[in-house]
Amino acid sequence: MPERIRIPSVGRAHDELLQTMEGFRKGDADWRDGRTWSLVYYAGEAHHELIQKAASLFFTENALNPMAFRSLKRMEAEVVQMSASMLNGPEGCVGTMTTGGTESVLMAVKAARDRARAKQPWIRNPEIVVPSTIHVALDKAAHYFGMKVRYVDVGPDFRADPAAMARRINRNTVLICASAPQYPHGVVDPIEAIGAVAKQRGIPFHVDACIGGFLLPWIEKLGYPLPVFDFRVPGVTSISADIHKYGFAAKGASVILYRDMSYLKHQFFVSTDWSGGIYASPSMTGTRPGGPIAAAWASLAGMGEGGFLEHTDRAMKATARLVAGLRALPEVQVYGEPDATLVAWGAKAAVNKGGVNIFAIADRLQEQGWTIDRQQNPQSIHCTVTSNHESVIDDYLRDVRVAIDHVVANPEVAASGNAAMYGMMAKVPLRALVKQSVMGVMETLYGTSIEPPEPNKLGDGNAGPLMKWMNEHGATIDAALDKFEAARGKIFGKKLGSRS
Ligand SMILES: Cc1ncc(COP(=O)(O)O)c(C=O)c1O
Repeated sequence: MPERIRIPSVGRAHDELLQTMEGFRKGDADWRDGRTWSLVYYAGEAHHELIQKAASLFFTENALNPMAFRSLKRMEAEVVQMSASMLNGPEGCVGTMTTGGTESVLMAVKAARDRARAKQPWIRNPEIVVPSTIHVALDKAAHYFGMKVRYVDVGPDFRADPAAMARRINRNTVLICASAPQYPHGVVDPIEAIGAVAKQRGIPFHVDACIGGFLLPWIEKLGYPLPVFDFRVPGVTSISADIHKYGFAAKGASVILYRDMSYLKHQFFVSTDWSGGIYASPSMTGTRPGGPIAAAWASLAGMGEGGFLEHTDRAMKATARLVAGLRALPEVQVYGEPDATLVAWGAKAAVNKGGVNIFAIADRLQEQGWTIDRQQNPQSIHCTVTSNHESVIDDYLRDVRVAIDHVVANPEVAASGNAAMYGMMAKVPLRALVKQSVMGVMETLYGTSIEPPEPNKLGDGNAGPLMKWMNEHGATIDAALDKFEAARGKIFGKKLGSRS
């Protein structure tokens, strides 16, 4: 085992350290040139510099104590108000900033649980009703807060089914959730219809607009057809919207908004008896870094409506070119009718019916320098398009064509690299085994070694016995799994991995 790294006995020269860190970037995803389809939202160098300066102005301050740093409290309040106006919040609309989408969703779920505890103490096992496409942050929230999620299948258009959701509500339902848009296929759930159900049943309704919150309002203003998704829908009680996504802020910035204080107050944590003093905290974290709050404030004020409209217009046009280009390729399809700038595309036919292997295409694109997001149910590649992608759409479509041709000419590539692992992971009927394999990868990533595995070699030796077994008997097992899945579909009428 290599020797463990220690804090150097004498601090190293600052210049040398900064140089070393620049060196660490080698091999990182290339986001400035638009070759990464998620993770980074870049609105050009001038904006980048602004948020960098804003973040560093306040990088030492701590919003844990708003009395000590009134500057941060002020900026947070202004960010909340700008977001509330953008999302048509009613007069009493309130909220807080959080570190990101996951924390905002965690807070919406926690607030709903604690509200129910106060108002309906007889509910012992609180539940949440959601469409199956809801972001996994919701699962994480339910997992952390000891709640049950009732998943409802979406329709063939990947949108939530309000009537089916209404049927899943029971005495224990303390929250209904839907997305605007949902991440996997980029479609907006029918928020008005779900809102009507929520209102009629008197159940809080959270709209997860983490990715769309700072995008859909501008899409609507640009005149694209879009269903109403925000506080104009009477049943909507809370909305999460990430400023570090299409708000183009520095990472660590989201807002969680509530219709009024009667909902938000259940988000707070107060402890009166600690020897360290009376403690009150609005959200998940204790210390709250000032940098992301300042950068979020600067981002919204610096971008202005004009800036947001311009970036959204460019992103929508780039998305339209991407969708049209993909639809022109006979081997692949775009899933659903994306409402915004998120696109999922995959093979037109299943591999065992002569279709191309989408995960092998993903590997090939990755070799060509793209950072690729792979999805399942259906197997697909995901693109989060921003204004920064307008210059790469043609290159991407060209590389997709090359990748398809390569995979068609060399079908054996589907049995190696990540393609084998993702393909198998999507098919293995015992999901506990899949989970165990993923745990294996996590244990490697967060174990004692410093170098992470190569992106295209995640499955090699990291994913435990399941992957080893697949490596040895891949083709036979793969064929057997296909047969099993076909039979399973016939018997249960449900697709493998369906959350409902
Ligand atoms: C709809 C939706 N909700 C929640 C999240 C989680 O956000 P974060 O990764 O900032 O925690 C995302 C991230 O993409 C999202 O798209």
